[in-house]
This record gives sequence, structure tokens and C-alpha cells, in this order.
Amino acid sequence: MDAKSRLEERAGEFLIRPMQPEDIPAVMEIDRESFPNPWPENTYLYELRENRMSHLLVIQPRESPQLVGVAGYWLVVDEAHISTFAIHPDWRGRGAGAVLLDGILHQAAGLGAGSAMLEVRAGNLAAQALYRKFGFQTVGCRKGYYKDNGEDALLMTAERLSEYETALTRKDQK
Ligand SMILES: CC(C)(COP(=O)(O)OP(=O)(O)OC[C@H]1O[C@@H](n2cnc3c(N)ncnc32)[C@H](O)[C@@H]1OP(=O)(O)O)[C@@H](O)C(=O)NCCC(=O)NCCS
Repeated sequence: MDAKSRLEERAGEFLIRPMQPEDIPAVMEIDRESFPNPWPENTYLYELRENRMSHLLVIQPRESPQLVGVAGYWLVVDEAHISTFAIHPDWRGRGAGAVLLDGILHQAAGLGAGSAMLEVRAGNLAAQALYRKFGFQTVGCRKGYYKDNGEDALLMTAERLSEYETALTRKDQK
């Protein structure tokens, strides 16, 4: 099965929707399992209610209301800066990350983003592999960016978002 068919099959298993304030406890649980410095509740409240540049999405299995992942980005002019991205450990490796990343890139492109960027820990090879699959390339390194352990951040960008049909099938790759 090719990458596009696999993504379509996986997309059928999940539902992506905008995050609501009621989702904060479940999202904070995903964060606690995923990051050394999870966002506090106030940050989510600010991002949801005050920050007009912020877009937060959650993903759940179609058959269940349980949230299995969260993703966010700030749309600054025509660039989407991915602010958070995590799948609950119990659900990793089942395609939810790919479906969610495809979802936010689509949404951002639809809102006018021409490119996307993010920082990722130099040692986070799983996330880097996922991002590369969606056209992200490493364009820089921020030395000692992560204060908890001094780890470097890789800066990754994806260009020409407006050309995505689905992120795994850019028009020029058909
Ligand atoms: C990175 C993360 C979001 C991936 O989510 P996921 O649902 O497990 O990813 P998927 O199952 O959709 O996998 C999609 C692709 O990502 C890559 N990938 C995922 N897990 C991987 C692993 N452990 N090792 C290598 N590549 C991996 C693969 O290329 C995979 O494609 P494939 O299924 O065709 O092999 C998840 O591991 C996570 O939440 N990690 C902790 C938080 C985090 O690191 N967030 C990113 C911050 S920048």
C-alpha cells in the first residue's frame, strides 16, 4: 500500500476537531506523558481564549470520545509555527500522529500559511522522521535551546504548503 492510501485508511479511523476548554484535563494528561515541561492550564486557557494567532486541534478515535493527541500552531502572517504536538503513549505507532500532522498542515494552508516551521529536540528521532515524511527539512540548530537538559533544537521548515493536496502527496510528487 502506498503512503497516500495508508494515510487515507488511517484518517478514516480518527476524528480531528478544534480543542475546547473542556478538553484541557485530557490534553494536559497527554502532555504530562509526553513532555518534561508540559503547558500549565493557564497557557491552554490563554491559547484558546486570548491568542488569536493560536490554533489547537485534538484527535480522537472515531469510535470513542477519548482524546489521543493534541497539536497546535501559531499562524503568524503566512507562516504556521507549530507550538505543540503529542500523541498519548498508548496510541503511538498507529498512525494518529501522521493523521494529525496532515490535519494541521491542511488547516494552516487553508488559512493562508505558505510555510510551516517547528523546533524539535535533536534526540527526538521519531518526531523528526514524522516531520520529514511531511516535507519538513532541517534548516538550522538552536544550541542548548531546551533548558531542562541543555539539548539542542533542530529548526525544521516545510515550504509551499499551498501546494499540498494531502501533505503526503504534494502535487509535484504524483
Ligand atoms: C512523535 C509522535 C507525535 C509520533 O506520533 P505517532 O502517532 O506515534 O506517529 P505515527 O504512528 O503516525 O507514525 C508516523 C511516522 O512517524 C515516524 N515515526 C513514528 N514513531 C517512530 C519511531 N518510534 N521511530 C522512528 N520513526 C517513527 C515514522 O516515519 C512513521 O511512519 P510509518 O508509520 O509509515 O513508519 C509521538 O511519538 C509523540 O507524541 N512523541 C512525544 C511528543 C513529541 O515528541 N512531540 C513532538 C515535539 S516536536
